Amino acid sequence: MAETSKILIIGGTGHIGKFIVEASLKSGNPTFLLVREATVSDPVKGKLIESFKNAGATALYGDLYDHRSLVTAIKQVDVVISTVGYGQVVDQVKIVDAIKEAGSIKRFFPSEFGNDVDRSRAVEPAKSAFEEKARVRRVIEAEGIPYTYLISNCFAGYFLPNFLQSGATTPPKDKVTILGHGNPKAVFNKEKDIATYTIKAVNDPRTLNKILYIRPPANTLSFNDLVSLWEKKIGKTIEKEYVTDEQVLKNIQDAPIQLQYILSIVHSIFVKGDQTFFEIEPSFGVEASELYPNVKYTTVDEYLDQFV
Ligand SMILES: NC(=O)c1ccc[n+]([C@@H]2O[C@H](COP(=O)([O-])OP(=O)(O)OC[C@H]3O[C@@H](n4cnc5c(N)ncnc54)[C@H](OP(=O)(O)O)[C@@H]3O)[C@@H](O)[C@H]2O)c1
Repeated sequence: MAETSKILIIGGTGHIGKFIVEASLKSGNPTFLLVREATVSDPVKGKLIESFKNAGATALYGDLYDHRSLVTAIKQVDVVISTVGYGQVVDQVKIVDAIKEAGSIKRFFPSEFGNDVDRSRAVEPAKSAFEEKARVRRVIEAEGIPYTYLISNCFAGYFLPNFLQSGATTPPKDKVTILGHGNPKAVFNKEKDIATYTIKAVNDPRTLNKILYIRPPANTLSFNDLVSLWEKKIGKTIEKEYVTDEQVLKNIQDAPIQLQYILSIVHSIFVKGDQTFFEIEPSFGVEASELYPNVKYTTVDEYLDQFV
């Protein structure tokens, strides 16, 4: 029988966190959730927590900013997966402090789930946001906490339903705006698959103190590839408007701060090609679809079928 671990998920009511809770429950690893008391009374999130409990999860009350609650929760498990949002990224040092005090954690997955922040050419404000995740990595390493950094690249659910077209809820059928020349390769992964690979890595010695990249060949596409694939599916050629690199940088500067953050991430991915400009070297990383060839991940091609 496969090895199991008691897994605590901090952020299990969040966008990626809920998929990770589901995958953990499905895998048979005893699953614990750190939930904030106020969240339990939220009509939507309260129901979600209830459904996780009905499926076998143990909910523990706690908060990132309540050290005792963190230590109490962490002492009950073997593995901690954090999926807190970007607003709490730096404060994950509080989880590190609690892990140190608990003294028994065999793996920590900090909230990464994006680009590799140590291999990035992002401009501000994404640059500083990525540096915050990198700072958390350095603290984990300095404390000698066993880790896996999960690089999921683009969440399919955020990028594919709209092709990054402002206000769109379906892929474009007449005209598409493409940032830069559209040739750098990006990687799109369905959230459910990201969660499956994350849980696979928990008990796998090959991912210990490594970066686990989810970069399946079928999901590694340039924006131009993505548009061509879509055009084939709908049997129609779409008008393409290319925005120059200089114009994208200007748009970032002129945008309100929240949009600046999103645009600078998108610039890093689609103009700079930061998800694929480096090789995954065995000294620091492993690739999920190679490690787990039996996982039948959803390809971008399959994902787009729902919009035709
Ligand atoms: N690759 C991509 O395309 C992509 C896209 C978006 C995000 N990301 C990354 O994915 C990671 C997770 O982001 P997300 O968007 O999934 O997060 P999210 O939806 O904002 O969820 C955040 C989670 O953290 C919990 N949380 C917040 N404050 C807390 C506290 N003080 N104590 C305990 N829990 C707390 C929230 O709980 P409550 O329910 O109680 O609020 C929620 O469960 C981040 O690192 C982000 O940068 C990647």
